[in-house]
Amino acid sequence: MNPAGSHWICASVCIVRITTIRKEEIMPQANHIGLLTSGGDSPGMNAAIRAVVRTALAGGTTVTGIMRGFSGLLDSEFVEMTPRSVSNVIQLGGTILKTSRCLDFYETGTRSRAATILKERDIDCIVGIGGNGTFKGLSLLGKEHGFRVVGIPGTIDNDIPGTDITIGFSTAANTALESIDKIRDTAASHDRLFFIEVMGRHCGALALEVGLAGGAEAILIPEVDVDLDRIGKIVSDGRERGKGSLIIVVAEGALEGGAMAAAKGIGERTGADYRVSVLGHVQRGGSPTSYDRALASRMGREAVIALMSGETDCMVAVVCNEMKFVPLSVAWEKKDTDLELLRVAEITAS
Ligand code: F6P
Repeated sequence: MNPAGSHWICASVCIVRITTIRKEEIMPQANHIGLLTSGGDSPGMNAAIRAVVRTALAGGTTVTGIMRGFSGLLDSEFVEMTPRSVSNVIQLGGTILKTSRCLDFYETGTRSRAATILKERDIDCIVGIGGNGTFKGLSLLGKEHGFRVVGIPGTIDNDIPGTDITIGFSTAANTALESIDKIRDTAASHDRLFFIEVMGRHCGALALEVGLAGGAEAILIPEVDVDLDRIGKIVSDGRERGKGSLIIVVAEGALEGGAMAAAKGIGERTGADYRVSVLGHVQRGGSPTSYDRALASRMGREAVIALMSGETDCMVAVVCNEMKFVPLSVAWEKKDTDLELLRVAEITAS
């Protein structure tokens, strides 16, 4: 069964009623939402925060911002959210609620402490914007202590199963692509081989996207064992076919040592002169694209609708451009990578 189809219909009804019906009629199950961002930030998180806050407040539900993710929760770092708290943030990268990675939250005792703090403030629902780690913490907290929890997928890695796309991926891809295009200019001028490292410790989605869009001759990703002999042959064959510049996009987790190690291995095999460029955290920042802003706005609104309609332990997802709610447990399985894109990239760059 598609668990989300019926919710969407119900959700549509609810949203129509938001501004016309009294709070206790439309939000029987969401009195006070705690809102946090956690894990690696991604451009568009602020647009999602804005959408959650304004959708909830429009329905009469209080929203408290929890600063610095689960770490801030444990330190009782709360901030009251009003419609004006989220003015002029839709265009900003990063997260106004700040973020952190809180490994302690995997401990049962730590979650009990967090539950006590939340209950003291009468928070009964939590919306968490982040990735797999965030969703695990959220799900456990909800199940163990009776909070209703909803996740919004925000990560530049696009590595969350159950949703076609995550907030921030579009912006990161465009940022990386801009750099690849610039590197292509200098690579072409010098007839050089370049290795460009993009983010993606465990997932090659970003590398595949920008490698394909940037015309890379090869793309190395964590999901496929790196065969340096094969890549060396792509370089040598390309040169024989008259290619001057070549670009190899390397996801940081594709091999131990990332792009630097790949470059060294290929350099030894081919004798080619090469340069390495590691794009790094620049990919995590910047003003979100229109796609990410719109996606985040839709997802933020949908998260509140999920809570209104009595949902819990679910993530807002986009499947074939439709909003769905999928169980949080789906989100920490491993996402399938479309390996066909590797072939598309190689053939179109030949
Ligand atoms: O946000 C995801 C991600 O960008 C990964 O691709 C990367 O490996 C990781 O975060 C690095 O994040 P940090 O430097 O914050 O640990």
